[in-house]
Amino acid sequence: MASAGPAVRPAIAALPAYKPGRNPADLAREIGVERAVKLASNEVAFPPLPAVVQALATAAAETNRYPDNGAVVLTAALAERYGVEPAQIATGCGAVMLCQQLAQAYTEPGTSLAFAWRSFEMYPLLAQVAGARAVMVPLKPGRDGGPADTHDLDALAAAIDETTRVVFVCNPNNPTGTAVRRAELAAFLDTVPAETLVVLDEAYREFVTDPDVPDGLELMRGRPNVAVLRTFSKAYGLAALRVGYLIAEDPAVAEAARKTHVPFSVSTLAQAAAVAALESADEVSRRCAAVVTERDRLTAALRERGLDVADSQANFVWLPLGERTAEVAAALEARAVITRPFAGEGIRVTVGLPEEDDVFLAALDEVLAAAPVS
Ligand SMILES: Cc1ncc(COP(=O)(O)O)c(C=O)c1O
Repeated sequence: MASAGPAVRPAIAALPAYKPGRNPADLAREIGVERAVKLASNEVAFPPLPAVVQALATAAAETNRYPDNGAVVLTAALAERYGVEPAQIATGCGAVMLCQQLAQAYTEPGTSLAFAWRSFEMYPLLAQVAGARAVMVPLKPGRDGGPADTHDLDALAAAIDETTRVVFVCNPNNPTGTAVRRAELAAFLDTVPAETLVVLDEAYREFVTDPDVPDGLELMRGRPNVAVLRTFSKAYGLAALRVGYLIAEDPAVAEAARKTHVPFSVSTLAQAAAVAALESADEVSRRCAAVVTERDRLTAALRERGLDVADSQANFVWLPLGERTAEVAAALEARAVITRPFAGEGIRVTVGLPEEDDVFLAALDEVLAAAPVS
């Protein structure tokens, strides 16, 4: 009799299979153009920082050794930058791995993890992997005079019950780019029970320009159940190296993340590059300012085309195209522009270089001319 083979946990078997993103070189070859533009993954378009390239060359000579599993130099640099103790910090193989480490550390079957939806696509998957229940609270539709597609913090607070171990608040929110303001976030944090960990996921913090959008670290102070998550993947341009960090008011939270850390998963190269990137603060700020200028130009250009684009505080913009989403994304792809569609909801477009965004806008004009969006 044929064996059924080793049984994968049902929750894991039910996960969607990994689907690699569209590769621009493959797409360009397929449709016979010189170059395709990829505006799909919220990376910055600039090349790595010069200091990073130099640090990588030096660190390459040490790759026969295991990395420093405690990332001591990087942790000290982060502690100094943010005025916290090293014990309050955990580094991880990208912020996404830290999300998973927290889900592992704080949730189990019978408990739940709450977050807004739509938000970072990994949150429901992390809950599923941990065997916890995902409580998904719809974003506010934005038709009531408020900004479109923002967190509904009252509904999120109401969804927290005695099973809720972790709440993610993605601010600015991926994929809508919208952000919650200081007063409402502070009021929300004051309602969350002390036993529930609130993770302020600030992967896009460096692109925030509205002074009313709080720095999570400021709200974290004095709140032992709050942690802030940041990454080197976006503003610092280290997406390929995989390094993120968590700062928690209570060192016990950082310790829990360290206990679920995959050993040596932040490489020597990643640590060296992150330290060099932190030391390049002025250049990083200049690059972020350029992204913001381009974000505002792109937003205005899209609004001129009649699209209902919310103000973004991140390095991407959101086109709420609803049922037209898949068709418009496919038509853009046929014109060598890769975006990130969420079928039935909208398209997230990463802010690229001005010339890349012009290619996108020209392609969009062709698509809209053929079939206008009402
Ligand atoms: C909201 C949010 N959090 C976390 C991450 C993970 O970033 P990384 O794992 O590259 O540090 C991302 C990446 O897209 C994100 O959008």
